[in-house]
Amino acid sequence: MNQPVATFIPENAPFDAGQRLWLNGYMAGLLAGKHFPPAILKGAANGGAQATVPLVILFGSQTGTAEKIAKQLAKESRTRGCNGRALEAGAHAGIDWSQETNLLIVTSTYGDGDMPDNAQAFWDWLQTDAAKSLTHLNFSVLALGDTNYEQFCAAGKKIDARLEALGAKRIHPLEVCDLDYEAKVKAWSAGALAAFAPTGGPAASPEAIKPAAVEGYSKTNPFPAKLITNRKLNGEGSQKETRHFEISLEGSGLNYEAGDALGVWPHNCPELVAEILAALGCDGEEAVPTAKGELPLRQALTSFYDVSRPAAELQKFFSERNPAFAALLTPERKDDLKKFLWGRGVVDFLVENPGVKLSPKEFTALLKPLAPRLYSISSSPKAHAGQVHLTINVVRYDSLGRPRKGAASTFLADRVNDGIPVPVFIQTAHGFRPPADGGKPVIMVGPGTGVAPFRGFLHERSATGATGKNWLFFGEQRAATDFYYRDELEKMLADGRLTKLSTAFSRDQAEKIYVQTRMLENAAELWAWLEAGAHFYVCGDASRMARDVDDALHKIIESAGGKSAEDAKAYVAKLKSDKRYQRDVY
Ligand SMILES: Cc1cc2nc3c(=O)[nH]c(=O)nc-3n(C[C@H](O)[C@H](O)[C@H](O)COP(=O)(O)OP(=O)(O)OC[C@H]3O[C@@H](n4cnc5c(N)ncnc54)[C@H](O)[C@@H]3O)c2cc1C
Ligand SMILES: NC(=O)c1ccc[n+]([C@@H]2O[C@H](COP(=O)([O-])OP(=O)(O)OC[C@H]3O[C@@H](n4cnc5c(N)ncnc54)[C@H](OP(=O)(O)O)[C@@H]3O)[C@@H](O)[C@H]2O)c1
Ligand SMILES: Cc1cc2nc3c(=O)[nH]c(=O)nc-3n(C[C@H](O)[C@H](O)[C@H](O)COP(=O)(O)O)c2cc1C
Repeated sequence: MNQPVATFIPENAPFDAGQRLWLNGYMAGLLAGKHFPPAILKGAANGGAQATVPLVILFGSQTGTAEKIAKQLAKESRTRGCNGRALEAGAHAGIDWSQETNLLIVTSTYGDGDMPDNAQAFWDWLQTDAAKSLTHLNFSVLALGDTNYEQFCAAGKKIDARLEALGAKRIHPLEVCDLDYEAKVKAWSAGALAAFAPTGGPAASPEAIKPAAVEGYSKTNPFPAKLITNRKLNGEGSQKETRHFEISLEGSGLNYEAGDALGVWPHNCPELVAEILAALGCDGEEAVPTAKGELPLRQALTSFYDVSRPAAELQKFFSERNPAFAALLTPERKDDLKKFLWGRGVVDFLVENPGVKLSPKEFTALLKPLAPRLYSISSSPKAHAGQVHLTINVVRYDSLGRPRKGAASTFLADRVNDGIPVPVFIQTAHGFRPPADGGKPVIMVGPGTGVAPFRGFLHERSATGATGKNWLFFGEQRAATDFYYRDELEKMLADGRLTKLSTAFSRDQAEKIYVQTRMLENAAELWAWLEAGAHFYVCGDASRMARDVDDALHKIIESAGGKSAEDAKAYVAKLKSDKRYQRDVY
């Protein structure tokens, strides 16, 4: 959109209309304190209407959302007077920052307020003296996160603050987004691009500005897929419930690659919805707003709202009506609040506060929208055309005297039948792929459901005739009941498609044995594989396992590789920047 700008260039100056418009915008920008690189001045010479503002867009993304937004932003920038280049944050080292003036960052947050893997090197670099070369930059940051995490959008917030501390100029305010990020992303993108291109840039062609046509199935337009297999992987007596699902993609036009994830939009448990309706004193027919317009409350609570976790808005509402709960919301009682909320759902707040009355619309205004769940795909399209396989730990537990169910895992395990399709979409992985060179060895660490993508990798590598060696570390509680895909893996081991299988069954003996125990026992061999160019992959629990495996990897590089702690750190950083250390952790 072109915006009116002040007039600095006299009418009789020797410029055509386009050049005048561009120069006026440039002058307005300078007066507003913006910095422009020499490259932008070239725009004046070839006619203002052609001028574009060079713009680097760095993304930090673990599961592809920020990456997709950054790439879309780069595309959009070209219709708004900028020439955006979307690059992963780790590519910072290849950029000549003296030639760049404009920087946008789009990043998610992982772990406990940590950078996504592909932004870690950028973040480390921002702490060094070399990053002082960024002081001349104009920047803005878009942070993606999830308010269910304590360190909400911490990675984006940290980068924003660090760039400011380095002396760079925040040209457009930081935006922080929860899982329903679409509207905020749209507004931030428009604002940030307008801030960089003072005149709004060359007018976009009508094709360029019209919203993208719905191109097949996606997160916002999921495919109603058919569930064709639902099989328990654990034997009798196991303490776990992990299931193998097969979902047909026939007729969807959806494609995926080994390493991608499947997004599943769940329907909430009808019994839980009924309990909430009873607590509200509603019959479920009351009309309430949803993303798809007004719908009956029962349908809205089943398919559009998160009715499990008490959102911040709901907590605030009850804190204003319940002094005992309000006392927990003070910063010094953070740990007490955490304990109080563990296993406590939306329904508990209603039942425990019977005096608090809420209309259906007041109630839904306190809920977060239902979010899709991601699952690492455990198949390869080259081995199972038209199908996606999943390996899912079904979440069931008792809390405050009620049985509780994970929304998506029990939707698939219990509630999908012939009449109910599974709304799905493909979430393309960021770099989590078997090596393009099939001759490279791979080391895969995947305890529990973390085995999922590696089943896909092994199927893929055998379908493509990849000659590189494959080493899988798998762990679960007990060999007798929890050795997922045992027959398949042992067959692959016997025929050489799997070179080595190291298992760690944690509860088959008095002391815990974990995958990292096996890694450390095999330190010399693991080091030799790394030195032979192996790619190292980790999938599964993020909070403990992935950190411990990372520690073990460092120890192995120190002990078997004879390196100091500092050199081991550098070795791991190099593995990451060479894309030979990839993680899919949750
Ligand atoms: C990229 C990616 C890939 C993934 N791949 C897989 C995969 O391959 N397989 C897989 O199984 N999962 C995978 N997950 C996790 C998955 O997306 C879901 O988070 C998981 O299935 C739980 O979803 P749910 O809807 O069933 O449970 P939810 O309704 O989201 O409930 C889970 C929540 O319940 C609470 N909770 C759980 N147990 C207890 C307890 N004992 N006491 C109190 N509260 C508790 C916790 O707050 C927990 O966060 C992946 C996640 C990501 C991001
Ligand atoms: N945050 C948590 O506290 C927590 C705990 C469990 C699961 N989860 C979540 O549960 C989901 C799936 O779990 P899952 O069924 O795939 O399996 P899992 O719970 O990760 O367990 C798989 C195996 O890993 C072992 N394990 C536990 N701690 C480990 C560690 N620090 N390092 C290495 N191995 C470890 C387990 O042993 P033992 O169980 O015998 O210790 C088990 O043998 C994930 O979403 C995960 O994030 C979270
Ligand atoms: C294991 C895990 C840890 C996460 N940790 C945080 C966190 O600490 N703070 C936060 O705001 N969001 C957190 N998130 C949410 C992600 O940042 C959010 O889903 C984001 O949209 C993902 O974007 P991406 O696909 O580009 O990685 C976490 C998500 C996962 C799966």
